[in-house]
Amino acid sequence: MQIVFASNNKNKILEIQSMLPETIKILSLESIGCHEEIPETAETIEGNAILKANYVTQKYGFNCFADDTGLEVTALNGEPGVYSARYAGEQRNAEDNMNKLLEALSDKDNRKAQFKTVIALNLDGKQHLFTGIARGEITLEKSGNQGFGYDPIFKPEEYQETFAQLSLEIKNKISHRGKATLQLLDFLKANK
Ligand code: IMP
Repeated sequence: MQIVFASNNKNKILEIQSMLPETIKILSLESIGCHEEIPETAETIEGNAILKANYVTQKYGFNCFADDTGLEVTALNGEPGVYSARYAGEQRNAEDNMNKLLEALSDKDNRKAQFKTVIALNLDGKQHLFTGIARGEITLEKSGNQGFGYDPIFKPEEYQETFAQLSLEIKNKISHRGKATLQLLDFLKANK
């Protein structure tokens, strides 16, 4: 069985392929000749994951899954949420995004936040959604240099370190993306 992962991130594709039996082959967008930028214009994380998966299935006819992630901060009514990548502007710069978030929380006591990943899977005419959540809080300052995005200012529940201070192995076990991916893999293994 072949299934497209609507992502251009080669590492993400290799990682998922390595966790699946050889009978399930993960295809990249490049390998199916999809070189255009897929629109991410929905107003929710779920909506964007669905948009991306549907784009590939409708235009190219493949079974497909796509993911979308956002950081939801309680005191900011769930912002930046679906706008996490471009919170501080279209330059999509992680430092600018973190600085803006720290500033927005400077007068707030409640620093609770969660990362949410939604994976939308189109399989044989049906759609399935998998959600992974990592709860935690936004720290007062940046710590650590691993990972990407908001990792230096996100401290997951039950840990004293930020995502950027934890090893990738631990982060993958407890992260939003790790949890959503595990659900997808279990589903694919059971259904294919
Ligand atoms: P995407 O949907 O995976 O592209 O994620 C959207 C944005 O959310 C990214 O550009 C990052 O700013 C942020 N983000 C997603 N996952 C993580 C993570 O694991 N750590 C830190 N930031 C993340």
